[in-house]
Amino acid sequence: MNAPAIAQPLTLSATGPLTGTVTVPGDKSISHRALMLGALAVGETVITGLLEGEDVLATAAAMRAMGADIERRETSWHVHGVGVGGLLQPRVALDMGNSGTSTRLLMGLVASHPITATFIGDASLSGRPMGRVIDPLSLMGASFTASPGGRLPLTMRGLCPAVPLRYTLPVASAQVKSAVLLAGLNTPGETSVVEPIATRDHSERMLAGFGATLRIETAPEGRVITLIGEPELRPQVITVPGDPSSAAFPLVAALIVPGSSVTIANVGMNPTRAGLIGVLQAMGADISLGQQRLVGGEPVADLHVRHSPLTGIEVPPDIAPSMIDEFPILFVAAAFAQGRTVMRGLEELRVKESDRIAVMAEGLRACGVTVEELPDGLIVTGNGGEAVAGGATVAAKLDHRIAMSFAVLGLNARAPVTVDDARPIATSFPGFVAMMKSLGAH
Ligand code: S3P
Repeated sequence: MNAPAIAQPLTLSATGPLTGTVTVPGDKSISHRALMLGALAVGETVITGLLEGEDVLATAAAMRAMGADIERRETSWHVHGVGVGGLLQPRVALDMGNSGTSTRLLMGLVASHPITATFIGDASLSGRPMGRVIDPLSLMGASFTASPGGRLPLTMRGLCPAVPLRYTLPVASAQVKSAVLLAGLNTPGETSVVEPIATRDHSERMLAGFGATLRIETAPEGRVITLIGEPELRPQVITVPGDPSSAAFPLVAALIVPGSSVTIANVGMNPTRAGLIGVLQAMGADISLGQQRLVGGEPVADLHVRHSPLTGIEVPPDIAPSMIDEFPILFVAAAFAQGRTVMRGLEELRVKESDRIAVMAEGLRACGVTVEELPDGLIVTGNGGEAVAGGATVAAKLDHRIAMSFAVLGLNARAPVTVDDARPIATSFPGFVAMMKSLGAH
């Protein structure tokens, strides 16, 4: 998007402990949803703490292209919505950049409007599967012309009125769940999603906050979320907490750099997102939660973390959805643990911004870490906290979390670890390098 045209290599190093207090940018998942629901409410929604990363800006641009009025005034964002059912035909293709969340959730929104929209994205996004949203949205009446394999670029034609649906998720995906629920907004009757394994629940929380009626039940087949269609959404004042997925990088950095003591303030601790903290604590990490509070209906805390000796564990596969974006940085933490860390049940990592199992395995090996790649995960044999060899340039593959993970690995390496291109970091964590420098990294 606005990124410079030339690759920007990044090498971080530490000559002493990391210390200090930092904040991380707003939660990406919540930021997307705040803009989308604000754009469907009648009146002015005010958002503070919005993540101003490229992914969220892609959502803002798409909502503007479909009629919403969105502007940034000083530190807050002001959204004037069009009302449920009021989205307009966009005149240009919707450029989703690198953002799977923008794409899949917006496909849901468009599906129940009389709109034809074309979605385009970068090379990473154009390789990711969209069949998982095309399937349920087709059942609701939308039609699609997609690139081979159900990929972008694709054109969809929504149907109004759409057909309500009860849909059981075939993969544990909050994006698919949200796409169906958002399609259900402009659909008469009840739209239900059954999730056999619970995924992040920001859509449910925020839909209820905007005044939609939702029923959430626990059935033998899983968690059932039912949305009553055609609600009137009321504008909200939203404070977006810091993104736990971004906080994971300074957190693990402090764990692996000897002598470090770091506080990350104002981090979202929604239980459907906070799996990493418990896993690291089970490995021996000294992490404590201070100032636990509710901000805008989401639990928030300040995280205090100190350098800690870590021990390898078997990570229970059922915890994966609550930390799905944190595995790349957990692989890095595992490289400094004593013994083996076994992480399985992670097939979904192969269809993120990159194949995160293969890309991390290759980069870790290049840096001297012992790993065994499995079809559904990775086994990392750690070195008990010694510096890794390093001395490699690793490919970020247009994946922000891969880039930040290897930048953090380099903080405790005998020879520099260089990330070939740090530009993707701007999709989710503008200011990452400045924040790491403020803690003492070079
Ligand atoms: C997200 C859901 C997850 C996550 C992504 C954000 C969301 O994707 O990896 O970064 O905001 O709903 P999946 O639904 O594909 O698991």
